[in-house]
Amino acid sequence: MDYLRILGEQKIGGSITISGAKNSALPILAASLLFKELEIDNLPDVADVKTLLRLLEYLGCDIQQESIGNVKIRAERIVHTKATYDIVRKMRASILVLGPLLARFGRCEVSLPGGCAIGARPVDLHIKAMEKMGAEIVIENGYIVASAPKGLKGAHISFDKITVTGTENLLMAAALASGETIINNAAKEPEVVQLCELLVSAGIEIEGIGSDTLKVRGSGGEVLKSCHIKVIPDRIEAGTYLCAGAIANAKVTLSNVNASHLQAILDKLEEIGFGIEILENSLSILPAKKRQAFELITTEYPGFPTDMQAQFMALATQCEGMSVIEERLFENRFMHVSEMQRLGAYISLKGKVAQIRGGEVLRGADVMATDLRASSALILSALVAKGFTQIHRIYHLDRGYEKIEQKLKAIGVEVQRLKE
Ligand code: EPZ
Repeated sequence: MDYLRILGEQKIGGSITISGAKNSALPILAASLLFKELEIDNLPDVADVKTLLRLLEYLGCDIQQESIGNVKIRAERIVHTKATYDIVRKMRASILVLGPLLARFGRCEVSLPGGCAIGARPVDLHIKAMEKMGAEIVIENGYIVASAPKGLKGAHISFDKITVTGTENLLMAAALASGETIINNAAKEPEVVQLCELLVSAGIEIEGIGSDTLKVRGSGGEVLKSCHIKVIPDRIEAGTYLCAGAIANAKVTLSNVNASHLQAILDKLEEIGFGIEILENSLSILPAKKRQAFELITTEYPGFPTDMQAQFMALATQCEGMSVIEERLFENRFMHVSEMQRLGAYISLKGKVAQIRGGEVLRGADVMATDLRASSALILSALVAKGFTQIHRIYHLDRGYEKIEQKLKAIGVEVQRLKE
């Protein structure tokens, strides 16, 4: 297994180009099952995208790689409609093939994803939504076995909780259903918006895009015409590298970024004391004279994203005073705390609330990545820790951060990828 070795306290500064968004690429790839042909640009070269491409290939999709970050997918010759456990356990977002497979082929078996480090991650809301559209679903031997021999019917569905992939699964099912589907309490993330825009470009009528109520007029089973789409920039990757500038209190400039997707993150950075410079094609964080402790609660978009919680916890170690972070979306998204305490961070936990006292000196140590975003918080902490920090199990990082060493080196980080 690989690990990263980082020497702290280096002079940080420079520019980074942001990659396509993993969490937009995944639903778009799953949506290719609804199309004659779908061409996708700006796919990030990350493990989760490769895993989903392998699943699509296993199902029978014809996939041509035209160039780096580009694929052309044809789903004419699907031979399987079963997403097996060995693939789904590696990448829980494989659940996103449930809606499109059911809508297009009238049946599918998708392994229950199971939990992960940050929580139980149930998919009950996905299943209930499909049943409301007329699917018969049983859970057998750890698989969701779904069938809709007469096709899916439009329905009025209210999600008990806001679910990103639940909304995406339902959108894809509704796109090929007969009649109108109304989704209440829909997720509004930019990745959900891009999926809506893709379906609209294929001729599906959708009202309320970007709001919490979506109205979808389905094609009645007709396969969607060929389309070509470019994945939006990754707002969480962008936020992570802004935090690299923030924790080192240095200027870092990002290109290929959509600042409007980062508003909650930019507001919080300005509240702490940083300058933010938005130009035509770039976004920069500028050093703060004084970095104030802050309070933060994670909520659904456009609120502060849970996927940035760990990174801001690392930043809090450098802010004067006691910062407070409350994690409201996942029940176990503080796995980075014990690893950061090994570096000398002063963090106390009470249930879903963490208190971080700034000003403690961090010292390099061996630490272990536990999930994708927790790993990035350990990298950020290593930037300001004295001496070397070794971050183990970085396969978590490779799931969602493209070319991470190259991008870190571009802003002056002394980092090596080594073998255990
Ligand atoms: C998406 O996960 C993202 N993944 C996650 O990013 C992100 O943290 C999360 O949304 C929240 O923003 C992708 O888009 C691939 P949810 P998702 O369904 O859709 C509960 C990363 O680091 N829930 O919005 O799985 C659930 O337990 C990843 O890139 C149910 O109870 O999250 C959670 O408490 C991590 N039943 C809340 O809803 C369900 O059927 C939000 O989960 C579905 C969800």
